[in-house]
Amino acid sequence: MSEKRKWIVGAAWPYVNSVPHLGNLIGSILSADVFARYMRLRGDEVVFVSGSDEHGTPIEVEAIKKGVKPREMTDQVHGYVTKLFKEWGISFDNYTRTESPIHKEFVRDLLLKVYKNGYIFEQIDIVPYCPHDKIYLPDRFIEGQCPYCGYPKARGDQCDKCGRLLHPTELINPRCVLCGSRPIFKKTKHWFFDLPKLEKKILEWVSNNPYLPDNVRNFTLSWIGEGLKPRSITRDNKWGIEAPFPGAQDKTIYVWFDALLGYISATKEYFEKRGEPDKWLSFWKNKDARVVFFIGKDNIPFHSVIFPALEIASGENYVLPWSIAATEYLLFEGEKFSKSRGIGVWIDEALELMPPDYWRFALIRLRPEQKDANFSWREFYRIINKELCDDIGNFIHRILSFIYKKYDGEIPKYGKLSSVDEEFISKVFSTIDEIDREFERARLRIALEKILSIAWLGNQYLNKKAPWDKIKSEPEDAATTMWIGANIVYILTILLAPIIPSKAEEIWSILNIDESLWKPGRITTLKNMPLKPGHRINKPKPVFPKLPPDFLDKIQEQLAKVRKAIVNKRPKVLS
Ligand code: MF3
Ligand code: ZN
Repeated sequence: MSEKRKWIVGAAWPYVNSVPHLGNLIGSILSADVFARYMRLRGDEVVFVSGSDEHGTPIEVEAIKKGVKPREMTDQVHGYVTKLFKEWGISFDNYTRTESPIHKEFVRDLLLKVYKNGYIFEQIDIVPYCPHDKIYLPDRFIEGQCPYCGYPKARGDQCDKCGRLLHPTELINPRCVLCGSRPIFKKTKHWFFDLPKLEKKILEWVSNNPYLPDNVRNFTLSWIGEGLKPRSITRDNKWGIEAPFPGAQDKTIYVWFDALLGYISATKEYFEKRGEPDKWLSFWKNKDARVVFFIGKDNIPFHSVIFPALEIASGENYVLPWSIAATEYLLFEGEKFSKSRGIGVWIDEALELMPPDYWRFALIRLRPEQKDANFSWREFYRIINKELCDDIGNFIHRILSFIYKKYDGEIPKYGKLSSVDEEFISKVFSTIDEIDREFERARLRIALEKILSIAWLGNQYLNKKAPWDKIKSEPEDAATTMWIGANIVYILTILLAPIIPSKAEEIWSILNIDESLWKPGRITTLKNMPLKPGHRINKPKPVFPKLPPDFLDKIQEQLAKVRKAIVNKRPKVLS
């Protein structure tokens, strides 16, 4: 396995105009958390950052509709989701916000460097304006038909259907999202990021980076192939970071050029708070550090083109992304998640229904890694009861309760290993290496499938060895089985820990192992069989209670109840 590394793990920053749903969570934050936790277990140095994406039109639109100030809304929602992420067990090193003073200053400084390096120019732009609401309508303030794919609800900056970045003048039949009327187009001066000038360098990076997954590489190459256009970087909105360019005092920065830089500023802020103000440079200016982003596929162009372009244009030699793990879409019972139609489950509702680890397990199991995936309650029920409770839970319980009952809770002395023992161990060991490779490539769903296969192998092994029979006829063989079994339980739990961290801790406390056996670095010594004969375990209790048999009949009703009650827990601005 590879040597100790530095990882910067970034999860797409959620907009704070709503509570994320399960699809949002698996796309970015939950996936990033599992990855960050695994790399820490490997003993690598990890900085895991994200934060609230507070500026930009989605929030401004929502705040106007609710009649509150944007900042009032973002304060409330930021506080609420920060708490939810904690409850979900997300192990951020820094979960910050784009209103953070360190972030704002960083963005203004960096963009000024880009300007001074000659990558930003002024130009007259044609911008939609609503004569009824008397405001400019950038980005999500305007909707219309996508000229490329025909999707009727494309936004002014991007089409949700085909993912293409758009200019508002390209929309067919545009309308103001606030009042629905047809906008007029006005000329105003804006500042543009000169993407064409950076095209060659970005292409070079994409072409020479073997770690970008296919969906990201293909999207990026085809976009570059269509020819990059300059992208306006300023807005006439009041809500946002003030543009730093000479003559641009009354403009703000387009939200994407602000939020993307958060990955760097949040790292800087993290180390400043720890009293090591220069340490962020040993990550971002270290060509061996690995930057990995976890995003939904609609965020690809920003992370694979605009972010590296900004890094290059700043002349600061920040390390370019090593990989960008972009998930496809998660459907809910075959449909798109929809707030207005109530289709889906939101992350606060989910916690009222089930312990977070059950969700984490099921979501990683369903992670839309190579293609769209579908969440259904039937599948959820199967994954939990069959795979988590039976395949994993029973394997663990069979071994631990046998040791507790038959050996007085003491791991027995093992004898000579048979070929069945050796084959089992060697299969598990080679699976560990495969899992490590999958984790490194951020193929978490495949990694979990292979982790599950260890439990499957384990159950087969137990059936074949039948220690419950052998304990009388061949006690030495039964003891060997249990020594091996206990160590495989340990291995299995370490590998599961990034996915189900609280359940893993429950099992470790039954195994009665101290911190040194699960602290950073453990992955590299997994094969040492650290549970020795004579080690005492605690009384096992079932760690994975099953969902009740009538789960599928009751869940709709339960969800409806939870949905009604959650309204009172959410910040007022969201109701
Ligand atoms: N807020 C964006 C979204 O939800 C994601 C921003 S990612 C960032 O689509 F890196 F730019 F912050
Ligand atoms: Zn489109």
